Amino acid sequence: MNTDLIARTEVFLKETFAASTYLEANSAQRDYRLEHSYRVANIAKTIAEAEGFDVSYAVIAGLLHDIAYCEEMATREDWKNHGRRSATIARPFLEELGIPSQAVNEICYGIAIHVDDEADFEWERTPFAETVGDADNIDRFDVYRIYETLEYNKFSEMSLENKKETVASTIEKLTRFRDMELGTQAAKNLWQQRLDYYIDYYERLRAQLDHSSSVPILFYDTDDLRDQEIYLRLNRTCQADPRRKWLPAYYFDICLLGGEKIGYCDLRIGHNGKTYIGGNIGYGIDEAYRGNHYAAKACRLLFKLAKKHRMEYLIITCDPDNLPSAKTCELAGGVFLEVADIPEDNEMYAEGKRTVNVYRFDM
Ligand SMILES: [Fe+2]
Ligand SMILES: [Fe+2]
Repeated sequence: MNTDLIARTEVFLKETFAASTYLEANSAQRDYRLEHSYRVANIAKTIAEAEGFDVSYAVIAGLLHDIAYCEEMATREDWKNHGRRSATIARPFLEELGIPSQAVNEICYGIAIHVDDEADFEWERTPFAETVGDADNIDRFDVYRIYETLEYNKFSEMSLENKKETVASTIEKLTRFRDMELGTQAAKNLWQQRLDYYIDYYERLRAQLDHSSSVPILFYDTDDLRDQEIYLRLNRTCQADPRRKWLPAYYFDICLLGGEKIGYCDLRIGHNGKTYIGGNIGYGIDEAYRGNHYAAKACRLLFKLAKKHRMEYLIITCDPDNLPSAKTCELAGGVFLEVADIPEDNEMYAEGKRTVNVYRFDM
């Protein structure tokens, strides 16, 4: 690494910021921008080392990528332009440093495209050039930023419900961002590490908020869910997810006593609009084992479990065209309530289903 070139770049950056009347009047912006420029330089260095790029040039590009913040950006257009503007400010300085013109162009191109992917001069879009924007994006997901974002959104002043909503939509957004394309594998690795940290943080926050207003249900031991022919082997349990209107649930394999799996079933504890349409119980029997009333038998075992949860009744629904399923409901002692319309916001609607037969089972 050419420490002399880098040291001179640091001086140039600091002097440019220090001479700026705009930054003089906005000292928080000046401090932030300088610190951010250093961080982007460090991230660019890590990527350059992993990818075999010129490390000094990567650091220099990182340091100078936002140098146009020395000028006031009054409009969004100005802001969109700050990559190209930064390149224009950087170019004479880089030439003066004696950097070969090929490298000057490459550094300037990377700086120019880092905001909106567009430069004002022709050059090749190399992985090196993309590293500037990648490092800039990666810096937006450093740990301190979690705190800043929460503070900026006045998280501490929100109601519990608002906090839950905010956290849920943040997780959704982060999960989408995680798969973004970047210029190099090294950048992508760094990016995903940072995003995973963020997602983990917000998942923990979500769990904490969920535990702030209700007691998670206790799942019972299920070893007794067996009769003379079948038993239910627990796959997993799942706590409620109020945002998706999911109730706590058990998921089982239906097995013959010898251990052979012949189907699956699940039980959702509690009632809401979603269970009225989707039912408290779902099940399926593998084709080879159909015609033995195994589904009805599995339902009876699930009723035992529902009673432990003090459920007074269960809903099971089925497709109006699915005669075997309707038969299962009747065999298991269900009372037909109605043919219900599936609301448009229900997942089943998206699958093309429009109505369900609703059965009620008193426990
Ligand atoms: Fe920028
Ligand atoms: Fe930046």
